[in-house]
Amino acid sequence: MFRKKSLESHHYYDEKIFTQEIEHIFKKEWLWIGRSDQLKNRGDFITADVIHFPIIALRDNNDQLRGFHNVCRHRASKVLLRSSGNCKHIVCPYHGWRYNLKGELSNPSKFFGSDDFDHKIHSLFPIHVQEKFGLIFISLNKQPKFLDEWLGPFEQVINNHYESEFIFHNELKFDVHANWKTYVDNYQEGYHIPIVHPQLNKDVIWEEYELNNTNECSIHKVPEKASSSQPGSFGWHFPNFIFNTYGRGIVFQRIEPVKPKWCRVIYNLFRSPDIAYDDFENKEGKYQLEVSIEDQKLIPDIQQNLQAGIYTSGPLSTKYETGVAYFHDLIIHKLNME
Ligand code: FES
Ligand SMILES: [Fe+2]
Repeated sequence: MFRKKSLESHHYYDEKIFTQEIEHIFKKEWLWIGRSDQLKNRGDFITADVIHFPIIALRDNNDQLRGFHNVCRHRASKVLLRSSGNCKHIVCPYHGWRYNLKGELSNPSKFFGSDDFDHKIHSLFPIHVQEKFGLIFISLNKQPKFLDEWLGPFEQVINNHYESEFIFHNELKFDVHANWKTYVDNYQEGYHIPIVHPQLNKDVIWEEYELNNTNECSIHKVPEKASSSQPGSFGWHFPNFIFNTYGRGIVFQRIEPVKPKWCRVIYNLFRSPDIAYDDFENKEGKYQLEVSIEDQKLIPDIQQNLQAGIYTSGPLSTKYETGVAYFHDLIIHKLNME
């Protein structure tokens, strides 16, 4: 049985809890940070700030994916400043130390080190990186599970909708004045559909919304009405990896914690190659954007009330809010607060 009440409100703004979440959750789990199509060629790289960890993912000269912390071993400059690009070497923009694509320090530019300076022990700090569904995932965990094992049954559920020939359509990014969990909570239930999402409500029978909460993921199932224009399927994997399907493609979504009261929501839409850009944009793209904007309108108000000190916790529906309860149970478990 899952919990009957929501997480206490201080979980949604407390700096100390946010720091614990970074340590015990975001430094342990696999995190989706970019796309395989950005790393097609040797030397292609992407950079990202995963909370306060600047990181790099790149394709090396043996076509192997590699991940590094984006920090120079000399005096801690970022070694790559652009968000994406192609390079033959990584040259630090501060004093010019040069690293090869395996992350090894190949040339500490005109450096007069002490007698015991050994450039071989000054490689970039490695991190784990893997790709799946055309996405790049990283883990800051020194010994993560394999990505397949981490995904568990979620992989098969996505594979029921994902085609390897899907092409990248576009990216949507929103900064939202809310804790990352306020946003995940909203995703984890369909109880608000009839009031908040009028179009979605025309397409699905929300009363029959069901969640299968297992293996740290929630598979959402909701029957479509015969008249549905956008048949869909949804799912969430702890802590912040989501997929949505609307017809002829798939949308991957992540909810990044930025600060205790601030998150960033990122969508990457992929479409079937036989669908023209405008066609997909005007149907699935517009639909996803509408649903997202409808949620974003109310989430900052919920955050404000969670911070106001009037409300502490509320009851959860045993029929419609099991996904929220499961998420909250996982948070408490990961933070060793049981
Ligand atoms: S900090 Fe990178 S070369 Fe000095
Ligand atoms: Fe919603």
